[in-house]
Amino acid sequence: MAGTEQGARQVWDLPVRLMHWGLVLAVLGSWLTRKLEGDWFAWHIRCGYAVLLIAATRIVWGFVGTRHARFSDFVRGPSAILRYLRDGTDAAGQRIVGHNPLGALMVLAMLAMLLAQATLGLFANDQVFSTGPLYGYVSAATSDRLTSLHKQLFDVIVAAIVVHVVAAVFYLLVRRENLILPMVTGRKPGESLPPGATDIGPSRTLLAAAIAAALGALLWWVVRNAPEASLFAF
Ligand code: HEM
Ligand code: HEM
Repeated sequence: MAGTEQGARQVWDLPVRLMHWGLVLAVLGSWLTRKLEGDWFAWHIRCGYAVLLIAATRIVWGFVGTRHARFSDFVRGPSAILRYLRDGTDAAGQRIVGHNPLGALMVLAMLAMLLAQATLGLFANDQVFSTGPLYGYVSAATSDRLTSLHKQLFDVIVAAIVVHVVAAVFYLLVRRENLILPMVTGRKPGESLPPGATDIGPSRTLLAAAIAAALGALLWWVVRNAPEASLFAF
């Protein structure tokens, strides 16, 4: 869909935007449900499933999604990163439309860490009565180790999110480039794009929904077939 502003172009498809803000809510929920008073554990698991499914769907979308959603569009080697830092351009000397090569590293790191965080949670326990749904597959000692990794990795994720948000605000205030609005509307204004930039075309939201549904069914099946888990089983 062509933008209404002068020369604006559709850059981010609907699934990328829904997954981004969905991830923000689910991560926030995962954190709040451990920090609030009261028993929010069932909601911690629900938010955790949402993080797991969104991160996994986004990774698959990185291979089959629209142009700038694909890893092949934005994952680059060190020389491209250095050129971007020096000139702010790609190999052809043009402005970058999707993720820049440095931001791409953060995108990959965050997706990998969130996937790992939710997976660790599946095997975790709280030493009292709550266990992740796959606790029954591992010994109590292994679950304790995975739980402590679950806690440590969370601190690294928080640090990454802080850097990520500070970078977005830096672009907004210092470089006068609003990257946040395009994550909402999907469109970037003409002046931030190279000449001849084109729209990405249809979002293919149904395909993304089918991928999420298939991964959700797989998760449901794995959890349903997991051995009974009890902290008090000896
Ligand atoms: C829990 C917090 C957050 C997580 C886990 C997160 C994660 C991510 C991920 C994985 C991407 C890549 C998007 C994709 O290609 O699918 C991304 C992009 C982006 N995020 Fe976030 N994000 C968070 C919070 C925020 C917040 C609060 C803002 C706004 C201030 C923000 C602004 C952006 C922007 C502007 C991009 C696109 C960057 C670009 O144009 O290259 N994010 N984020
Ligand atoms: C299905 C996925 C998940 C399950 C089953 C799960 C399970 C658990 C369990 C059993 C604990 C208790 C550990 C304790 O308090 O002693 C815990 C703690 C915690 N989890 Fe998860 N979790 C999941 C996903 C996530 C995600 C995605 C995040 C954040 C991105 C997260 C963040 C936390 C935090 C911050 C704590 C508290 C750590 C602390 O008290 O220091 N969890 N989780």
